[in-house]
Amino acid sequence: MPELIVEHLTKRYPGAGRAAVDDVSFTVADGEFFTLLGPSGCGKSTTLAAIAGLEAPSGGRIAAGSLVYSDGSTFLAPEERNLGMVFQSYALWPHMTVAANLELPLKLRKLPREERDRRIDDVLGQVGLSDCRSRFPHQMSGGQQQRVALARALVYSPTLLLLDEPLSNLDAQLRQQARAWLKELQRSVGITTVYVTHDQAEALTLSDRIAVLRDGKVLQLGTPEEIYERPAIPAVADFIGRCNFLPATVLSARDGSVRLRVQATGTELSVDVRDGSHRAGDEVTLGIRTERFALPGSENALPVKLTKRLYSGSWYEYELDCGGHTLFARHTARVDPGELMLGVPRDGAYVFAGGLP
Ligand SMILES: Nc1ncnc2c1ncn2[C@@H]1O[C@H](COP(=O)(O)OP(=O)(O)OP(=O)(O)O)[C@@H](O)[C@H]1O
Ligand SMILES: [Mg+2]
Repeated sequence: MPELIVEHLTKRYPGAGRAAVDDVSFTVADGEFFTLLGPSGCGKSTTLAAIAGLEAPSGGRIAAGSLVYSDGSTFLAPEERNLGMVFQSYALWPHMTVAANLELPLKLRKLPREERDRRIDDVLGQVGLSDCRSRFPHQMSGGQQQRVALARALVYSPTLLLLDEPLSNLDAQLRQQARAWLKELQRSVGITTVYVTHDQAEALTLSDRIAVLRDGKVLQLGTPEEIYERPAIPAVADFIGRCNFLPATVLSARDGSVRLRVQATGTELSVDVRDGSHRAGDEVTLGIRTERFALPGSENALPVKLTKRLYSGSWYEYELDCGGHTLFARHTARVDPGELMLGVPRDGAYVFAGGLP
């Protein structure tokens, strides 16, 4: 499959104020698992619908290699794009058996009977449902139905698989299993996939690369590690995982490290940085993830008052007051409320240009 190219995609619904998708660009490589991640209403489904040809873009260009799906002058119908698509609701035909559900797209494509049978067998094997051929959807679990929906999207060998929150109907445990299974299936089929989710854990575990969307725009695009370890802006740090933010002033900056003063407490801290753009006197925002604090800490530490402790099984959730700012920390150690020092790991904090988000 050639790469999928989305360039300056814009979609403005009639009568709507701002664009639902606003100048979005990305390229998905052959065999890649690419995820659009973002909160409700950020434009994920609209982007996917534009790729599928279910929505006509207001601007931009979408192409699979040299085949233009849509641009200013071209608009290919969905059936001309050879895509497999699974929606949040599996939309299986309730009055048809699994085999009949799978046969439908093959009949539409006028494949001969033996070829249809062979493909149905193959794909049911791939999704692990060989013995469910003649069952009806209501005779299957939610997880199994979801597999049938995927099988139906794969049965006619599409060049591109588009998945819009396909696991969101499953309960938490089934979702975990389905994630591992889906990743495995995508790898073995080797199909280029665009996946939509608002679930950051799902995005991190499944994806080769992630585009973080908000208000119709791409905030950051990168591998799961890049997005999590090197968030470009506070909004990404806070959406992927949980992050605390404190206003600070840069005292000095050199050799990949900055010394800064936390405004709320006057505390001086040192933090490793990747970019050398910070200058003494800059107002910045210090970002620290909830799970990265040393609790209690001694070096490079903030004076705080521990105000709340919640037991949550694998760890404790803490609420701390830091000079009037509420911080959240997560730690396996049990610490009693009171005054203490909260360690900030030099290599586990972020320095963002500008004031609080
Ligand atoms: N058919 C439509 N007509 C007008 N506005 C629409 C239409 N579909 C979506 N929108 C608006 O476009 C924006 C993006 O919607 P979209 O469905 O792409 O979001 P999403 O990221 O998929 O959200 P969710 O996670 O809730 O599914 C929203 O503000 C939504 O209200
Ligand atoms: Mg959606």
